[in-house]
Amino acid sequence: MHPFVRLLAGFLVCVVLPRTVAAATPPLITPGAEWRDTQGHVIEAHGGGILQVGRTWYWFGEDRNPSLDPEKRYVSCYSSRDLLHWKFRGHALALSDPEHLGPHWVLERPKVYYSKSTHQFVMYVHLDDARYKYARVAVARSARITGPYLFLRSFRPLDSESRDIGQFVDDDGQAYLIFESRPSGGFYVARLSPDRLSVESPAIAFLDAPLEGGALFHYQGMYYVLGSHLTGWRPNPNVYATAPNLTGPWSTFRKIAPASPDTYGAQSTFTLKITGTKATTVIFLGDIWNPKSLSDSRYLWMPLTISGDHLLLPEPQPWTINASQGLTRIAAQPVPPAR
Ligand code: GAL
Repeated sequence: MHPFVRLLAGFLVCVVLPRTVAAATPPLITPGAEWRDTQGHVIEAHGGGILQVGRTWYWFGEDRNPSLDPEKRYVSCYSSRDLLHWKFRGHALALSDPEHLGPHWVLERPKVYYSKSTHQFVMYVHLDDARYKYARVAVARSARITGPYLFLRSFRPLDSESRDIGQFVDDDGQAYLIFESRPSGGFYVARLSPDRLSVESPAIAFLDAPLEGGALFHYQGMYYVLGSHLTGWRPNPNVYATAPNLTGPWSTFRKIAPASPDTYGAQSTFTLKITGTKATTVIFLGDIWNPKSLSDSRYLWMPLTISGDHLLLPEPQPWTINASQGLTRIAAQPVPPAR
């Protein structure tokens, strides 16, 4: 073979072919692995939640990067059109201790809502002191989804202690806050006002189980609530209950991952429903906490298997999604073409 032809063949095999193959294979979501944003930085969005606006999803979470100002608490924002590639959009919130909470004050589990009536975005967070005794929510607001969000106030929803919070927006647009209240021994689901700035009384539901990491979704006529037991950063068997209506009656709680005593090391933070052109998929979003280095906590995202009043978090495996179709595939199977 002519040396030039050999060189050209080598170039095609080594450079062009792998790129073609890579382009045809959608990227994977690999639970528990380091997950990088579109700039190659590790994604910092722990205890997070996701809001869809138009064709874009916005992921908000705790940024625990130790190189940030230790006096402040940060909520990061990432955006994506395919749920696979996430672009860092900056810190939606960078807050100094707003209420003299003292050293090691706590801002956790940010969740962002949109108010149709005011065209504003409203962020709820769990606000606390180092001993978790303050037990309040804080509310911040912005005209732009990516922020900057302006701290407005903190309060105890329904005059109750509130620690872990969760977010739920129903198909009819009604928005709810889920919050764990230790003295009541359970967690509340309460409706937010149309401007999203306050929590309406009375609660829509009270789940009589001491659970945190609350998440909720509505799927094919059934409501599903998820939560974890009160073991701090340590994982435990997360559970779920179902009800035909948000007000109940709620079933007893069952494990979401009976095959794993600790939910594969993860704690629930959110459930994301993707209504695609071909299927509706609900994704479990969990945190695999690393209390020794919180910034190195990982994410466990997996599509849930749901059938009637049964729900299962399958064993984590790399998977992908065609977000416009709503179809997911685990990596071992043929994957649908990316959009
Ligand atoms: C967990 C909670 C986390 C954080 C942690 C602190 O139970 O879900 O958000 O508050 O406790 O120990």
